[in-house]
Amino acid sequence: MARVPIFASKFIVLLLLSSFATILVTGDEDHEFVRRLDRKLLGLKKEKLSHFKLYWHDILTGPNPSAVQVVPPPSNTSRTAFGLVRMIDNPLTLGPEMSSKMVGRAQGFYAQASQEDIGLLMAMNFAFIEGKYNGSTITVLGKNSVLSTVREMPVIGGSGLFRFARGYVQARTQKFDMATGDATVEYNVYVFHY
Ligand SMILES: *[C@@H]1O[C@H](CO)[C@@H](O)[C@H](O)[C@H]1NC(C)=O
Ligand SMILES: *[C@@H]1O[C@H](CO)[C@@H](O)[C@H](O)[C@H]1NC(C)=O
Repeated sequence: MARVPIFASKFIVLLLLSSFATILVTGDEDHEFVRRLDRKLLGLKKEKLSHFKLYWHDILTGPNPSAVQVVPPPSNTSRTAFGLVRMIDNPLTLGPEMSSKMVGRAQGFYAQASQEDIGLLMAMNFAFIEGKYNGSTITVLGKNSVLSTVREMPVIGGSGLFRFARGYVQARTQKFDMATGDATVEYNVYVFHY
């Protein structure tokens, strides 16, 4: 007589386990395009916080400009040049001088996105060529109010050593040539990555 309840409870446990299994399997069958991964399988161990200090050179003039206008501003928006777009392939160097070691290039574009003041939309990849960072990129997308002393812009991602990157940059104009428009900007990049 006493054995019946034990058998019954074992049966119930088995029944529950098998229904859980059914739910799990069904879940996988419904979404064959997705599976959960152990982050260690991708070599993602501990997230690091890195600070890079780089100098960004915007060269508009001379025989080899690194920033070229691809969309002129409509003439009736000339007060702020709203609508202007420049494509850039700007050197990133360790020091403020162009002659200092180049460790990468800032590739992308910036566009004058403000009708009231100078507020650029920056969309660029910092493509590194130095050492273990060679081939890895950091993507910056944000608003650059170039007349402010410090401009902060988000790091929205990255590739290679910067997979899953997030963070921000702070840009400070180091040098601006009123005659040519050439500029050197200090970029401090603070980025979480693996
Ligand atoms: C600029 O001119 C175009 C074409 O005439 C017009 O549609 C537009 O509204 C003007 N923009 C401004 C800011 O005046
Ligand atoms: C960076 O990688 C490219 C492509 O793999 C290679 O051609 C180049 O020599 C490397 N540069 C440095 C500085 O290691």
